[in-house]
Amino acid sequence: MSLSEEDVRALETEITSAIDGAGDLNALEQVRIDALGKKGRVTSLMKNLGGMTPDEKKIFGPLLNQIKNRISGSIDARKSSLEGAALNARLVDERIDVTLPAYSEPEGRIHPVSQVMDEISEIFADLGFSVAEGPDIEDDFHNFTALNIPPEHPARQMHDTFYLPEDENGDRKVLRTHTSPVQIRTMQNSQPPLRIIAPGRTYRSDSDATHTPMFHQVEGLVIDEDTHMGHLKGTLEAFVTAFFEVDNIKMRFRPSYFPFTEPSAEVDIGCSFKGGELRIGEGDDWLEILGCGMVNPKVLDHCGLDSKKYQGFAFGCGIDRLAMLKYGMTDLRPFFDADLRWMRHYGFLPLDIPTIAGGLSR
Ligand code: PHE
Repeated sequence: MSLSEEDVRALETEITSAIDGAGDLNALEQVRIDALGKKGRVTSLMKNLGGMTPDEKKIFGPLLNQIKNRISGSIDARKSSLEGAALNARLVDERIDVTLPAYSEPEGRIHPVSQVMDEISEIFADLGFSVAEGPDIEDDFHNFTALNIPPEHPARQMHDTFYLPEDENGDRKVLRTHTSPVQIRTMQNSQPPLRIIAPGRTYRSDSDATHTPMFHQVEGLVIDEDTHMGHLKGTLEAFVTAFFEVDNIKMRFRPSYFPFTEPSAEVDIGCSFKGGELRIGEGDDWLEILGCGMVNPKVLDHCGLDSKKYQGFAFGCGIDRLAMLKYGMTDLRPFFDADLRWMRHYGFLPLDIPTIAGGLSR
């Protein structure tokens, strides 16, 4: 064979410049395979050493070895410089502006009525109540008769009821005037012990700064064998202090009348209006916040519950009014105007879910 030293050195030069010219890691790997791979050009020359004369071996053995080592050194050097360049390019590419805000605030807001409903549900869930629901369009029996408000009863006039057109039997459905029909549905459909709240929409033909034709109430109902007025008082005290997020609230139970409770009471909480600022819980003024009482035995009988065995209490509370008191709105009408500026001001962030442990309104 006629291999000259010059040929070998020319090969080294050629491979070295291919290494320098490799633009990326893939191209470099191809150069390595062509030179030092199993069938590479340097590898093939080394395989031929076996067929050489001892004199040739003396020259080409060390020479090829040196060349092989230099080439693989060059490949390694080129590889790490290409890797460094690739990393730098990635770093430049992925650069982020750390001065940008971490996340943008969600645009929507939770309406104060929804917020207050969630707060109330959270408080009563903690007291072992579940949430019950009923339809907005009620029949006369559930909205009135079963609640001991028979036809011609004067309380029917007090409710400013919205009636739907008569059906073929001459019956008129109503938009429920309170959440109390959910008491009836609950007692008809389940056996005591019962412990529910029923928040929802209610309707009366009434409209001024503190009344809208559609408003919201939350009903509460507890029925068991020996539930009494003391339980009612304790429950309402726990509710009101948790809701207004204060340690103590002055409360007063004023005797009142509802056909579906006996005895009945209206509950006022203490407050003061000093300096034009309303403070809840202290002071010499009173604010009425809800109606309540012991469920009238006639109502239990209407629902098929044994009024000799079971007794309990109920209460009904205006949610919109609670929201106004807690969050300082003076007019109820903007609640239902869908004015974005009002919502941004009075609304709540969607991810600030009220919890007892984490705070109801913070
Ligand atoms: N349903 C009554 C109202 O709307 C409130 C109430 C509920 C009173 C339950 C007593 C018991 O005014």
